[in-house]
Amino acid sequence: MRKIVEKYVELPTKIRKPLWRLWHNLIIGFDKEKKEAFLNYGYAGEQDEFEHFELNKDDSKFKYSIQLYAHVARHHGFKGTDVLEVGSGRGGGASFLTRYFKPNSYTAMDINERTIEFCNSHHDADGLKFIRGEAEKLPFENEQFHAVVNVESARCYTDIPKFFDEVKRVLKPGGKFLFADMIKPDDFETIITDLKKTGLRIIETKNILPNVVEALKQDSEQRMNAINANVPKILRKSFYEFAGVEGTGRFNSFDSNKIGYWSVTLEKPLN
Ligand SMILES: C[S@@+](CC[C@H](N)C(=O)[O-])C[C@H]1O[C@@H](n2cnc3c(N)ncnc32)[C@H](O)[C@@H]1O
Repeated sequence: MRKIVEKYVELPTKIRKPLWRLWHNLIIGFDKEKKEAFLNYGYAGEQDEFEHFELNKDDSKFKYSIQLYAHVARHHGFKGTDVLEVGSGRGGGASFLTRYFKPNSYTAMDINERTIEFCNSHHDADGLKFIRGEAEKLPFENEQFHAVVNVESARCYTDIPKFFDEVKRVLKPGGKFLFADMIKPDDFETIITDLKKTGLRIIETKNILPNVVEALKQDSEQRMNAINANVPKILRKSFYEFAGVEGTGRFNSFDSNKIGYWSVTLEKPLN
């Protein structure tokens, strides 16, 4: 099991999908106290990067995962806008962006029904709702959103170019696509080419691997403690791997640049 988790990014997308579903359901089963609101590797901010908000005590526990969202969101003024997130997972990022940056509406979508049930019972903020849907076939009209957020999710999709086309379709002219994911260095140019093919204009591309590695170093102890408290012993090593704890194959793949991590901000042209 640990090896499968370690090699997950290298598996064909068709195999990744059911594996991801199984894994999700395991997490829901183990997290009895419903404490875990994020499923990403986190981001350690650069000096002064996050001076524009101060986390409350409860949110501080998720500092690094929240900082990944704050980093990805940095080019969009959320206030009064309509935002879609695709692949919102356990909803922590959606809740953070809604509570701290006050969009008019924030629609958080995920393919996993049980995850949506979890989020609807766990998160409550004005304008925030969770719905089930698929990235490759977004259940929305054309030009509905001022921004689309997508964090550590696209790598799970069977048809990433189709998803990028869908993002362009649902964005209003001038709307932003706020994207970040782990990507194998060999695949990076393909991702950028697919993004450009949609007609979206790139505002900024940033290699954030050093920030992700630093976040994992800082957060490893906390991640291990959470796993030890919730996961049966026999599965713990697989979960350490999944969580990118320092010393695991996943962590080493990041630390040795075998897997990269980028954030990309794009804009839909006005016409
Ligand atoms: C690694 S998690 C990241 C969750 C969240 N963005 C975060 O940072 O905590 C990836 C999420 O993408 C979702 N996902 C995978 N394939 C999807 C698809 N085709 N459409 C929508 N969501 C999908 C998974 O169910 C999962 O919740």
